[in-house]
Amino acid sequence: MSETRPPKVAVIGAGTMGSGIAQACAVRGLNVTLFDTQAEALQRGLKGMDASLARIVRKGGLTEAAKRAALGRVKATADLSGIGDADVVIEAVFEDLTVKREVWGRVAEVAEEGALLASNTSSLPITEIAAGVGRPERFCGLHFFNPVPVLPLVEVVRAQRTSEETVERAKTFVERIGKTPILCDDKPGFIVNRLLIPYLSDAVFALSEGVGSAEDIDTAMKLGANMPLGPLALIDLVGLDVALAAAESLHREFQDPKFRVPPLLRQLVRAGKLGRKSGEGFYRYEETA
Ligand code: CAA
Repeated sequence: MSETRPPKVAVIGAGTMGSGIAQACAVRGLNVTLFDTQAEALQRGLKGMDASLARIVRKGGLTEAAKRAALGRVKATADLSGIGDADVVIEAVFEDLTVKREVWGRVAEVAEEGALLASNTSSLPITEIAAGVGRPERFCGLHFFNPVPVLPLVEVVRAQRTSEETVERAKTFVERIGKTPILCDDKPGFIVNRLLIPYLSDAVFALSEGVGSAEDIDTAMKLGANMPLGPLALIDLVGLDVALAAAESLHREFQDPKFRVPPLLRQLVRAGKLGRKSGEGFYRYEETA
C-alpha cells in the first residue's frame, strides 16, 4: 500500500456490514469497489448507505455535497475483476466457513499480489479462512461493529501466519478511515464477542424463562446498567443469524457450557426472524433496512 496516495479498497459482500464498511471508507475519501454477486444486494447496500449518510447530514455531521461525493466514490459491481486494483480487500459475506473459503478462492485469483487481505468475520477462525488463500502472511481479520458508520472500534486480528508488516498495515488502514484499532489474537470471539455474546445469550435465556418481557429486559439494562440499547434490541440490530453463528462458534470452540446457545434464538432464526433486516426479531419493525 503506497503511503503517498489513498489506498483503494474492495469490499466483498454488500450486506449490512459490507455496505457500512464501504461507507466508512468512502466518507474518508477512499475509492471503494463494492462487490456482490446479487444485484438486489448491491441496490439494498447503496440504499442503506444513502439513508445512513442522509441521517448524518440531518444531524450536521456532513454536508450534502460531502454525502454526494462519498456516494460517488463507491462503485457497485457484480464483476469480480473490478477489484483487481485494490490495495485493501475486505470480505464481509455470510458467516459460513465453506462460503467464505469459496469466495476467497475466487477473490485471491484476481486480487493484486501485494494487497492487504482481510475478513470481517465475527465468529470464524481467521487462520482457517486464510489457509486456502495462498498468501496467509498478508491475511488478517478486520472486525467492524454494527452500525459501522457510528462505532469507532475495529479489531485487528492476527492469525497464525499473519506477518507483523500486515498487522502494521492493517492498523494504519484502520486509523486512515478514522477508526480505532485494537490488536487481538485469533481466538474465538476475539475480544468484543467473547464478552458480549454470553451476555446477549443470557438475555434470551431470561426471556425464555419468563424472567421478564422483552421490553422489560431491555429497559432494565438501559436504565439500570446504562447500556445504549437493551440486549434483545441489540441482537435485532446485529441480526439473529449473526448472533447465533457467533454463539455457536464460541460453544463449539471452547466446549464450555457458559457459552451455551439459547434454543429460542435458534428457533427464531429458523422462522426467518432475523431482526431489523427481516422486519422482525424480538420486536417488529416497520421498514426493513
Ligand atoms: N448511520 C449513521 N448514523 C447513525 C446510524 C447509522 N446507521 N445509527 C445511528 N446513528 C447516529 C444517529 O444519527 C445519532 O447521531 P448523533 O449522535 O449525531 O445525534 C447517533 O448515532 C445515536 O443514534 P440515536 O440517537 O438514533 O440512538 P442511540 O443513541 O440509541 O444510538 C446506536 C444508536 C448507535 C445504535 C446505539 O444504540 C449503540 O451504540 N448501540 C450499541 C451498538 C452495539 O453494541 N453494537 C455492537 C454490536 S456487536 C457487533 O456488531 C459485532 C458482531 O460481530 C456481532
